[in-house]
Formats: sequence, C-alpha cells, structure tokens
Amino acid sequence: MTKVITLATSKGGAGKTTLARSLACHWYNLGIKVGVIDADPQGSIITRHNPEGLLKDMPIIAQPEETVNDTIEEMKRSCSIILVDTGGFRNRTTIKALIATDIALIPLKPSADDVAGALETYDLIKELNETPERVNNHIKYRMVLTMTQQGTVISRHVREELKSMGYSLLENELYHRVAYPEAAIQGLSPSLTDPESPAARDISRVVGEINNLV
Ligand SMILES: Nc1ncnc2c1ncn2[C@@H]1O[C@H](COP(=O)(O)OP(=O)(O)OP(=O)(O)O)[C@@H](O)[C@H]1O
Ligand SMILES: [Mg+2]
Repeated sequence: MTKVITLATSKGGAGKTTLARSLACHWYNLGIKVGVIDADPQGSIITRHNPEGLLKDMPIIAQPEETVNDTIEEMKRSCSIILVDTGGFRNRTTIKALIATDIALIPLKPSADDVAGALETYDLIKELNETPERVNNHIKYRMVLTMTQQGTVISRHVREELKSMGYSLLENELYHRVAYPEAAIQGLSPSLTDPESPAARDISRVVGEINNLV
C-alpha cells in the first residue's frame, strides 16, 4: 500500500523542502517508485526540477490548491511512496494534505521560533486526529531536527526539552552541511550527487527510522 509522507511546519525555512527532496532522491536511487507533490505555492521543488536530469523518471506535480488530496489519490496509482512538500504557513492545502497523510514529518532547526512552529503544527495534527476522517486512524508524526551543528549543546537541549514534554522526535537528524544547498541548485540531494557523503549517510539513517514507522 502506498505511504504518504507530508513535510509540514508553520515556520518558514525549517528544512521541509530539503528533507522532502532528500527522501525522494534516496528512495528514487534505490529504485523505489516515489513521487513528489509540491504543495507549496512558492513551488520550491518544481522550479528546481530538471525533467531531463537525474530524476527524470520521478513523477513531480505542483499542486498548491486545496484539491491536493485528489492529486495524492491519483498518484497512489503509480507510486509506493508519496512525499508532499507544503508551504511554511498554516493553510487549507496543508490541512488537506495532512488529512490524506500516513506520516507527518515536522522539521525544525534548534531555535525558539522553529520549536514554536513545530508545536503549532503538532497541535494542528492533534486537532485533525479528532475529526471523523482520522479519529480511528491517526496521522503519525515525528519532529526532525535539521541544520544542527554536530556536538553543540543547543540541539541536544532542544531535543531533551521536546522529549521531556512528550513529543516524538526522530533520533537521527540532518546536520548542517553545505552539500544540501549545493545539490539543491540542480534540484537534487546528496543521496544522488554524492551517495558516499556524510550528508547521504545522515539521510540513510533518517530513512531507516521512517521505514520502521510505516
Ligand atoms: N541540513 C542542512 N544543511 C545546510 N543547509 C540546509 C539544510 N537544510 C536546509 N538547508 C538550507 O536552508 C534553507 C531553508 O531550507 P528549506 O528550503 O529546505 O526550508 P523550507 O522549510 O522548505 O522553507 P520554506 O518554508 O521557505 O518552504 C535552504 O537554503 C536550504 O538549502
Ligand atoms: Mg520549502
């Protein structure tokens, strides 16, 4: 059965698009049928995508409208994993995507504003899990630390605080690595541009945890 993973947080610039692209490239590289829906009105994924490039056989659809759930259903026919990238603010499209989602990933940098955005997004998911559509089939979620500096106190502190408050986080994180913005120039991610790189290894670890969730 197709798994739908939505990247969401109401905080802009937390790393949604980078994580969506990274997961897509990782699975594509393994030969898994993965599709991407760019539900962000900014179209960050679609504008960088090269239909003739390394991801040429991966379906990517821009759908920033509230009909995103129809697009998800449509894509389920041809893909086993669907990644939905959303805009950095609460809107109807994100809500529709979340309702159609198996797992919501909430990226956050170790900063007060990103934590606030992550908590707001958690509250939204909790609210949606009380609606008739999802009351018996909850949207799973995990927060994911991004752009962290290895060995710094702040990311460990944020992780421990969130865990002590009862929130669920992936154990692995996406460290701050220049390989991400470099690969993003061509709409790619380190899993494709440099599969042996430390960034590609970070992504593999995150994928391992997501695989255990689905
Ligand atoms: N792990 C990382 N290491 C280094 N740079 C990163 C990392 N993750 C993201 N970035 C950079 O940080 C910026 C913001 O990331 P990204 O675009 O993924 O965030 P976003 O949540 O999608 O933003 P928006 O809310 O605008 O859609 C980008 O320039 C991206 O290249
Ligand atoms: Mg984005």
